[in-house]
Amino acid sequence: MSETATLILDGAEHRLPIVKGTAGERAIDVSRLRELAGCITLDEGYVNTGSCQSAITFVDGEKGVLRYRGIPIEQLAKHSTFVETCWLLIYGELPTREQLKCWSALFTKYEMIHEGLYHHFDGFPATGHPMAILSAMINAMSCYEPDLMEMEGPAIFQAAAARLISRLRTIAAASYKTSIGQPIIYPKPHLDYCSNFLHMMFSIPFADYEPEPDVVDALQLILILHADHEQNCSTSTVRMVASSGANMFASCAAGVCALWGPLHGGANAAVVEMLQYIHDNNIDPADYVARVKDKDSSLRLMGFGHRVYKTYDPRATLLKERADQLLARLKRVDPLLEIAKRLEDIALNDPYFRERRLYPNVDFYSGVILRAIGIPVNMFTVIFAMGRMPGWIANWKEVRDSQSALYRPRQIYMGPTERDYVPIEQRGDGGCLAP
Ligand code: ACO
Repeated sequence: MSETATLILDGAEHRLPIVKGTAGERAIDVSRLRELAGCITLDEGYVNTGSCQSAITFVDGEKGVLRYRGIPIEQLAKHSTFVETCWLLIYGELPTREQLKCWSALFTKYEMIHEGLYHHFDGFPATGHPMAILSAMINAMSCYEPDLMEMEGPAIFQAAAARLISRLRTIAAASYKTSIGQPIIYPKPHLDYCSNFLHMMFSIPFADYEPEPDVVDALQLILILHADHEQNCSTSTVRMVASSGANMFASCAAGVCALWGPLHGGANAAVVEMLQYIHDNNIDPADYVARVKDKDSSLRLMGFGHRVYKTYDPRATLLKERADQLLARLKRVDPLLEIAKRLEDIALNDPYFRERRLYPNVDFYSGVILRAIGIPVNMFTVIFAMGRMPGWIANWKEVRDSQSALYRPRQIYMGPTERDYVPIEQRGDGGCLAP
């Protein structure tokens, strides 16, 4: 007999099924609780709620384990490429040689965006945030791909997925070029995914940028490590939008917006801003740690803490190693890396962080690498979005393929109970806040 949990409410016993994951995790299925017992569960911020069953990514936050489709992140970081990892996440298996060849060829085939789309960049001010431009452009792109909106059959899906991943880097680089007032650089078909992006970012019409292989590898590592992370804020957003039947472009554009916030993808930029602030103001890292512990300040040690990891984020381990390696190979010293290491040392030995189980997350060292590559801080979260796109697409596909129900959480209403409408002349004073 399958396992159940018993809930006793108002003297009545209700048996609720236990769902077991393939890695042994257990969940109480409360989907019929309202029907059985007349109440719902409340878990603000989804701290302890499984929103779906998924076969894409496994995270064990207690042990610091991350696997895509069962394969440890450390192995993918060592042996895979971003393009191959995209296939793995979306299709569930590593590609055969032939599949990888066709998949890479699709990325090349679709690397250019429609010429009409380039005119959209003229409409954004140079000060426009690249994440705003990115989400707007993904939606705009769907206007040029009406054939892909219906998503009939696996070939159309594959073309849409390849277009979205491939063109995202073209859009990202074009938005950067627009923001610095340089001409947009077109992609080059002979370049691999990462080199092509770096070419579009840093070449100028009369001088091609030739990236160091270590720089290309470091970018590749960053993209692989960001490619998916189960039900984080942006991925849950993508699934939520997908569950309404919205197309892949609309769903992923929503993911970009969710990623933007400083508590999620925006943290990589916030970390470097924090390190720069400490550096420029000559602050002792120990004093800064004291400030973030002060309950009267709203400061946080950016790049520390995670909703799921209660130990070192395995991605942070890989990135810390790579930051050291890259700077050594490029023969550079970055004072911000030294500050980051000092902060980490102090925090890991401080009872405040130990008791709360706050460790470095993926964002703590990624910014140092992105700086070494030459990526400006306001593009950091865009790079995160480029990495996360295959994860969003895999989750969009999973929602579609499972024909999942519309995602529609309930709430506990805490507002006024029923009351009468008051005519405007009886409502008292109250002015405008806006100037
Ligand atoms: N610095 C200082 N204190 C912290 C930090 C931090 N970075 N993170 C959590 N805390 C403290 C909180 O103040 C709280 O203390 P209290 O119990 O005394 O009130 C306790 O630790 C728990 O914090 P919560 O915010 O409840 O934990 P939650 O799991 O909701 O937050 C989060 C996770 C948002 C990532 C948080 O740790 C944080 O704000 N970190 C900094 C931002 C960051 O690096 N975000 C990137 C996350 S990874 C990603 O999205 C890719």
